[in-house]
Amino acid sequence: MPISEQIAFVGGGKMAEAILRALLASPDLIGTPCQITVCEPVATRRQALAALGVTTTPDNRAALAADVLLLCVQPGVMPDMLGEIGGHLGARHLLVSIAAGVPLARIRALIHPEARLVRVMPNLLLTVRAGAAAIARGPNASDADIALVRAIFEAGGRVVELPESALDAVTGLSGSGPAFIFVLIEALADGGVKVGLPRDVALLLAAQTVLGSAQLLLETGEHPAVWKDRVATPGGTTIAGLAELEAGGLRSALIRAVEAATLRARDLSQGSR
Ligand SMILES: NC(=O)c1ccc[n+]([C@@H]2O[C@H](COP(=O)([O-])OP(=O)(O)OC[C@H]3O[C@@H](n4cnc5c(N)ncnc54)[C@H](OP(=O)(O)O)[C@@H]3O)[C@@H](O)[C@H]2O)c1
Repeated sequence: MPISEQIAFVGGGKMAEAILRALLASPDLIGTPCQITVCEPVATRRQALAALGVTTTPDNRAALAADVLLLCVQPGVMPDMLGEIGGHLGARHLLVSIAAGVPLARIRALIHPEARLVRVMPNLLLTVRAGAAAIARGPNASDADIALVRAIFEAGGRVVELPESALDAVTGLSGSGPAFIFVLIEALADGGVKVGLPRDVALLLAAQTVLGSAQLLLETGEHPAVWKDRVATPGGTTIAGLAELEAGGLRSALIRAVEAATLRARDLSQGSR
């Protein structure tokens, strides 16, 4: 679905750049970088992003000329930033916030009541176009708005639509999840080193094994337990390793990690720091 709307990023940090790069790498989606403006206070960041062919400016009010505003500032900056532009927004503006832990109601209170609003919880893996993002429909947002936001984030990976009440759980799973998987990969590589592999080889094999396992599940749509059972032959090497994972409580540790991260996200959304 080609995007004809003018897009503005407010905040040109890591996430904005990742979304921007994913969009620009999708020529079917974005006709020309000229339809994108980035509002960013830091001159060096503006220079880096301008090199991608987009327009940059330190003035957030320039975003008001766009149809779609992607709000990519840190959560603590949102009130001041919305104080600056929120009152000038109208029904023609679609606002898309990626700020973690900032509920739609808190944004709504700071903007023109007719503006259309969508909240997205993306993750770091957007930077390699293998992200997982959840989108939640906010006030005034239409089906066409949701389709547009979906298209933007699908340029950087997979997208699901959920009610806003599920976004803390998304934060606990796919938001914090990359860090859990990094620990898993590091531990697998340590195992490889323990049995005599060079560190760099062990890390490559561990990371590629995680990548391929995920790809296999996504491409076949089969349950992980089906593949686990296929790999574990009777009396073989894999079942010996799986028995150790069960004894070490890997499953329950991961379940509790997602739960703990979700509860922390809920605390942050409710205003505690
Ligand atoms: N990183 C992740 O994995 C991740 C995942 C999900 C959601 N998010 C959300 O994504 C948002 C951006 O995260 P990030 O990692 O990209 O942060 P970041 O790299 O710090 O980017 C934020 C950018 O906004 C600029 N900025 C500060 N005040 C501004 C203002 N008043 N108007 C316009 N721009 C302003 C910052 O400039 P300065 O350097 O001068 O402050 C910075 O360049 C956050 O709300 C975060 O919760 C991030």
